[in-house]
Amino acid sequence: MLIFGIETSCDETACSIVKDGREVVSNVVASQIKTHQAFGGVVPEVAAREHLDAINVVIEETFTASRVKPSQIDAFASTAGPGLVGCLLVGLNAAKTLSLVYDKPYIPVNHLNAHVCANFIDTDLKPPFTCLLVSGGHTQVINVSDYGESQIAASTIDDATGEVYDKVARLLGLPYPGGIQLDKLAQSGNGQAFKLPEAKVADDEFSFSGLKTAVLRLVQGFKGVEIPINDVCASFQETITSTLINKTVKIAKKNNSTTIVLAGGVAANSRLREKLYALQDDGFNVFAPKMKYCTDNAAMVASAAYFNPMRVENPLELEVFSRG
Ligand code: KG4
Ligand code: ZN
Repeated sequence: MLIFGIETSCDETACSIVKDGREVVSNVVASQIKTHQAFGGVVPEVAAREHLDAINVVIEETFTASRVKPSQIDAFASTAGPGLVGCLLVGLNAAKTLSLVYDKPYIPVNHLNAHVCANFIDTDLKPPFTCLLVSGGHTQVINVSDYGESQIAASTIDDATGEVYDKVARLLGLPYPGGIQLDKLAQSGNGQAFKLPEAKVADDEFSFSGLKTAVLRLVQGFKGVEIPINDVCASFQETITSTLINKTVKIAKKNNSTTIVLAGGVAANSRLREKLYALQDDGFNVFAPKMKYCTDNAAMVASAAYFNPMRVENPLELEVFSRG
């Protein structure tokens, strides 16, 4: 089954053709990062307009790269939410239009499920597993019991992981999007240089606002003296990745799960991946998406359309939604 997926929930215009949910035939991503850098973050109106400008070109490129004809596609899918409404509308209307023109089903997809499904690409991963989903908008530990069946076991009560990365990066003067820059600097820093607090919250909660404030205080404490930025980044990264991995392992053990999976933009983080792979020594099977399928892309959308589509009576009448 060949599915054509479209992703436009935030600042990437992306299309992909995926066979049977696992095999990527073609994958095109047009990033808007350069546009939003000038503003220090994503401007929703600007993002929506850029999606409009890019979508037809990206659709065409995806077909050209694949040598697949639109008439050979079995279904057209898009992210319906959560995300920025004006942005989502572009992808959803493009996918619905293609489905009407080529007389094939339209399959709506939830963006968070799509991030989880990025792990099915090029792997033989099968449920059950425990997934740590860390993106710019969400932080959750999810017990995935079957394809399309899952329960949220923990989530953040304040900032999402990617959001904290971006905010800490900003206070350190790094350009948007800060997560990846912070990760790079952290790699040549000492993660034990500064002791930063881990929030004391319930087993089903994460909280990162205290950590964010602690980094701010630490930075302010240098009062004009040059900030040891690599050590600050590494100490922050060490603390947040420990919190994330420890809670995920605790939940996996409680759920008798032997497979742990990463998902979302922050799954690209070097230290988080290192700590995930180290869990193999404790007997866990571990999976993380390839780097290009961690941040927003449409291959994960096409995979989710195959493994975990949104269950709605009339998909063509479905509207976008901002929160999930
Ligand atoms: O999943 P994603 O592409 O978009 C959302 O659905 O939110 O995630 C984007 C987030 C941003 O906050 C970005 O800074 C963060 O993922 N990110 C990283 C890294 N790469 C991307 N955070 C930490 N380390 C990275 N290497
Ligand atoms: Zn995302």
